[in-house]
Amino acid sequence: MVEIIAIDGPASAGKSSLAKKISDHYNSPILHSGKLYRAVANEIIEKKIKIGDKKSILKFLNSLNLNKLNSNNLYSSEIDKISSVISSKKYLREKLSGFQRRFPKNFAKNRKFAIIEGRDIGTVIFPGAKYKIFIWADARIRAQRRFDQISKKGQKVGLERVYREIVDRDTKDLNRRIAPLRPAVNSLLLDTTYLDIEQTFNAVKKIINI
Ligand code: DC
Repeated sequence: MVEIIAIDGPASAGKSSLAKKISDHYNSPILHSGKLYRAVANEIIEKKIKIGDKKSILKFLNSLNLNKLNSNNLYSSEIDKISSVISSKKYLREKLSGFQRRFPKNFAKNRKFAIIEGRDIGTVIFPGAKYKIFIWADARIRAQRRFDQISKKGQKVGLERVYREIVDRDTKDLNRRIAPLRPAVNSLLLDTTYLDIEQTFNAVKKIINI
């Protein structure tokens, strides 16, 4: 049986890097659930849809396909902002939860694990997940990591702006009424402020224990 590894935490805490490490080590697929929200934000920007236009957003949601989510253009400051705003919409979260819940069955056949990372995976999407990890790090450290990532791609951005955007997304993620960012019961809580990715992964391997 496929076991679920749920990884939650705020923006730039290292969820994707940790998920990739686990995925490489155990040869198991990952769903970056934020990409679903980002795909909707991308559509809103490209088609100039109004954020309140539920009908057009639902139409897009009905045509959404997990196989087509691998585009790199889902990562921009504008998409960061819009995806953060729309993620408080109940109908949207409900629609996207189906994609996430079907992921293990559709993409992890004959694998040991299905890894899903996001904000509400251990609390709402897979509360029965065998492994739940909640990672955190000081917002200043997360901003620095994000800044380094963006700079490496050759893009110009100010560290202070990145910091403000991270704090803004934290505020929205932590305070929305539906599925706010919270550690799930029985999660492994990891503060990665002073941990690098190897140390973080080693802590996770101890609980997975195979
Ligand atoms: O993880 P990310 O930065 O790619 O996520 C983009 C946005 O989507 C983020 O601002 C919050 C939202 N999100 C969410 O509300 N629930 C999830 N499970 C994943 C992402």
